[in-house]
Amino acid sequence: MARFTPDFLDRLRDQIPVSQVVGQRVKLSRKGKEQWGLCPFHNEKSPSFKVNDDRGRYHCFGCGKDGDIVTFLMETEGLSFPEAVERLAGLAGLELPAPDPEAAQRADKRKSYAEIMELACRFFEAQLKSGQHLGAQDYVRMRGLTPQTLALYRVGYAPQGNQLKTFLEARGVREEDMIALCLVKKPDDGRAAYDFFRDRLMFPISDRQGKIIAFGGRVLGDAKPKYLNSSDTPLFNKSETLFGLVQARQAIHANKSALVAEGYMDVLALAQAGFRFALAPLGTALTERHLGLLWRLTPEPVLCLDGDSAGLQAAQRAAERALPLLKPGQSLRFLTLPEGQDPDDFLKDQGSGAFSQALQAARPMVEQVWAACLAEAPTDSPERQAAFWSRLQALTDSIADPEVRRAYHQRLRAWYEARFYAPRPAPGPAASGPYRNHGAWRGSNSGRSAARPGYGRGSSYGSGYGHSARLSTSNLGPQLRATPARDSLLVGGLEGLLLALTHHPGLLPDYAEALSRVHFPRQKLANWCSELLDAALMIEENGGALDTEALRCHLKAALEAYGETDKLHNLAASLVPYASRESSEDVARQGIEEFLAKLQEQQARDEQKRSQIERLKQRVSGEQP
Ligand code: UTP
Ligand code: MN
Repeated sequence: MARFTPDFLDRLRDQIPVSQVVGQRVKLSRKGKEQWGLCPFHNEKSPSFKVNDDRGRYHCFGCGKDGDIVTFLMETEGLSFPEAVERLAGLAGLELPAPDPEAAQRADKRKSYAEIMELACRFFEAQLKSGQHLGAQDYVRMRGLTPQTLALYRVGYAPQGNQLKTFLEARGVREEDMIALCLVKKPDDGRAAYDFFRDRLMFPISDRQGKIIAFGGRVLGDAKPKYLNSSDTPLFNKSETLFGLVQARQAIHANKSALVAEGYMDVLALAQAGFRFALAPLGTALTERHLGLLWRLTPEPVLCLDGDSAGLQAAQRAAERALPLLKPGQSLRFLTLPEGQDPDDFLKDQGSGAFSQALQAARPMVEQVWAACLAEAPTDSPERQAAFWSRLQALTDSIADPEVRRAYHQRLRAWYEARFYAPRPAPGPAASGPYRNHGAWRGSNSGRSAARPGYGRGSSYGSGYGHSARLSTSNLGPQLRATPARDSLLVGGLEGLLLALTHHPGLLPDYAEALSRVHFPRQKLANWCSELLDAALMIEENGGALDTEALRCHLKAALEAYGETDKLHNLAASLVPYASRESSEDVARQGIEEFLAKLQEQQARDEQKRSQIERLKQRVSGEQP
């Protein structure tokens, strides 16, 4: 049977008005865009049979018949589909497409290939359920997979030996097809073909319609390779396939979110924990085709990556691949898990509540780009700083969409300037609610153009907050500059303050306001403080929740960014015991209160001295002629 491509059929429908075909049998009269006649499919006296050439269809309001030129010929003349098409092609003067035996064979093969893969999948599923393979059953139990999850993803087990080959042979499957589908392997040395997957837990991989096109198989123990995957076959191309797509599709629509994890087990663990919108590439980096596939489902899929350096690199590779393809509203977000944990570990460790929170805190692409560039090399000299800007610019320039490119440039430039050229704010009256102000970068665009990226590694940019109510000495006149000894005492005290709040984030909401008014004589301290204020906001945004992974990560990252771990440790052990991890929240609260009171006293003294000096200066200048 000749096959007609949809293209060819469309051309036929375009060229032959439906009224021409119907008109040979039915007398039609025009009313506006439509033509009406007596229905040829049932007996009637007044016309209820409507023909619409624009739409290429007819419809009878009497008997409900509905169709196009092809069905009309089939139903009024009893022609088969190809006969009707041939007749119409003649009418249109179109040449019938030459029968393409190869294409026909390919399509046939494809169908039978699909059937073979379905057979194999059922075989593996049945093996896992059979009760004959205790090792496999123990393994899935040990991994905490429920029968529902196993059923949803059709997980199976490939037994030892050549059982699949035997099973398929008994069903008339040819060996060459098994080889083509990568189900069995034929050694080059002429020995007999053998089962490709043996003694492995089997994850079927399906296409967008849910047809099985490949498998991934995991060893039950620690042997290598951990996973064996079908190589590319006529059905399967791994660079355009995502594991779990069929199972995730509905949840992606419902949640308007897709979560891209790294592997099979992550997808299963996530789905089992309620994150059904999870999927994964097949052990490769995300390709452009993967991105296209994801963006057709949802505008901002979230990439979930391991917090180790490989994960961070993968995130950056994905970002670089995605940048040129960004469109207004179309982007990626990044969820970085604690080092050494994949979603499966994380869920077992912290539970789904914590994962939800982390998901909410996933950072936008622009922050990923900023943070990755910043982490790439130090920026501690003008040249290195400028090199950092060049790296940012190169990435920005790769964005094809002009509007998005402009927005990236602007945003990154603002952060860059704020980080490296932030002017010291002029002393003035206390800003109203600097703590609120501090939060402005999250979403609301209330004025702070230099909105800064928050969360984690190297993201701080400076001390631009609420300096107005100065509590330190450092921007008083030169006469009052802190002596080195006094300064280091102050620094130690401030370190103690921040350390105590890091250990007792429950106190953050109470002291955020006061904290935002403290002036820090060192940039690093100001950065740390700024991260703590972010943490206070996170707590507030999460309705006071303290025990969240996002918060823990954030505090830990801020502490690590500050560094000086040994010094802090000694400090807490000797000078500011209230800041040590071991002290209770009450002790910490008391210590913080006392320290803030001292700071305030000192500020009052400094103010007093300053005004004395002012008066002195005035008197001196007044005495001069
Ligand atoms: P992982 O090593 O992170 O595996 O590889 P996993 O999915 O977390 O599995 P468990 O928890 O160790 O059982 C991530 C993905 O990389 C591919 C697979 O797609 C895997 O899911 N991979 C990994 C391979 O293709 N081959 C391998 O040998 C290892
Ligand atoms: Mn894992």
